[in-house]
Amino acid sequence: MSDVDTLEDLFEHELAGLYYVETELIDVLDELALESRNDEIKAAFADHREETREHATRLEDVFRAVGESSYTVRSSTLDGLVEDRQRVVEATNDPDLVDSHSVAIGRRIEAVEIEAYESLLRMAEELDYEEDVTEPLEKTLDEEEDAKEKLSAIGKQSRFGKLLAKIR
Ligand SMILES: [Fe+2]
Ligand SMILES: [Fe+2]
Repeated sequence: MSDVDTLEDLFEHELAGLYYVETELIDVLDELALESRNDEIKAAFADHREETREHATRLEDVFRAVGESSYTVRSSTLDGLVEDRQRVVEATNDPDLVDSHSVAIGRRIEAVEIEAYESLLRMAEELDYEEDVTEPLEKTLDEEEDAKEKLSAIGKQSRFGKLLAKIR
């Protein structure tokens, strides 16, 4: 890993971490869609997977805007969430429980992304970066918030709501 000596370096480091998350999530969301039995949950993950492709592309634009080529820094937070997910899928034969966990893990992933975008935007403001940096970040942040809301709504309205309340 290259040195992190300035706020610019930290911005870039965090950007690379988020780029790892977005690129990994393209496959993770695909798996979540495949593993979920409920059609609404499936559709929510499949739709957000398509948005996530855009998120990765927007981060490439941000790298370009700060004069860097895109690269990834591994995120142990995402890796940990994916491992937790795998353990639950392996530990249960009940598809309803898998679906409940899909919604819970999906919300947790969105929460991680939301925090990362907010943090990058705070740094961008501090660094006086222009709209070519902030606009793509803001656009994606909106979509992450919508995705989290959508999963929450699915969780509440469905018969999985009660199960979700137990594992939250
Ligand atoms: Fe994303
Ligand atoms: Fe997301």
